[in-house]
Amino acid sequence: MSVGREGKGSNGCIRCICWCYCLLFLLIGIAACLAYYFYTTEKAQAPTYDIQSFQVKSLEVQPDFSLKTEFEVEVKTNNPNKNIGFKYGENSNISVLYHDSVISSGKLPAFKQDPANTTVLKISLSGTSEDEAGSLQDDMKNNKSNGEISLAVHVRVPIKVFVGNFDLKEVLASVSCDLVVDNLEEGKTAKVLQNECEPDVEF
Ligand SMILES: *[C@@H]1O[C@H](CO)[C@@H](O)[C@H](O)[C@H]1NC(C)=O
Ligand SMILES: *[C@@H]1O[C@H](CO)[C@@H](O)[C@H](O)[C@H]1NC(C)=O
Ligand SMILES: *[C@@H]1O[C@H](CO)[C@@H](O)[C@H](O)[C@H]1NC(C)=O
Repeated sequence: MSVGREGKGSNGCIRCICWCYCLLFLLIGIAACLAYYFYTTEKAQAPTYDIQSFQVKSLEVQPDFSLKTEFEVEVKTNNPNKNIGFKYGENSNISVLYHDSVISSGKLPAFKQDPANTTVLKISLSGTSEDEAGSLQDDMKNNKSNGEISLAVHVRVPIKVFVGNFDLKEVLASVSCDLVVDNLEEGKTAKVLQNECEPDVEF
């Protein structure tokens, strides 16, 4: 008798665990389907980027006439999607160019951007660039800037798309910005006269 009852008891327990697992898998399945549904129906839109400030921490012409730069840039980014979020990966690059040569570079902080979230990223950039015809130091020396300095900002960052708790796919996004500032002077925040960023990303 007692043996039979015991057997029944453990059988019932196994059955119960079985059901729990089935239910769990079912729930995970439903959640994954919902995530995929939102992803496909919403059609992920690229985040927007807006360079808000451009601070010159250092700008020094070295004895060999190379230019040493240190900038701090604030970029406002908005995720326009209602259900889709983005995870910005570690392995990113951002560079500032003057006449196609990189004068400063750095990386974005890795961060998670929830749906409909707006965040301002603070990014530190630094670099040294050679003195050559048409270089920034050359143009500054010859007083060619005329209160307007045209720069380009290039960003490459791996972005993981997520919905709820599900990571769906990873893409490599590149963003190009045309940036015009009034002046570059050590210790000053340059006035951003023009700022247009074009994200190039396929989700
Ligand atoms: C960024 O630059 C580093 C080093 O130059 C490189 O290893 C990495 O792959 C680059 N990342 C992207 C997304 O281009
Ligand atoms: C956006 O996300 C960032 C980082 O996760 C968070 O610090 C910030 O408070 C969020 N902003 C809003 C408006 O929810
Ligand atoms: C540079 O140009 C500005 C106006 O464009 C002028 O006021 C200034 O005197 C010039 N400086 C030099 C060193 O030539």
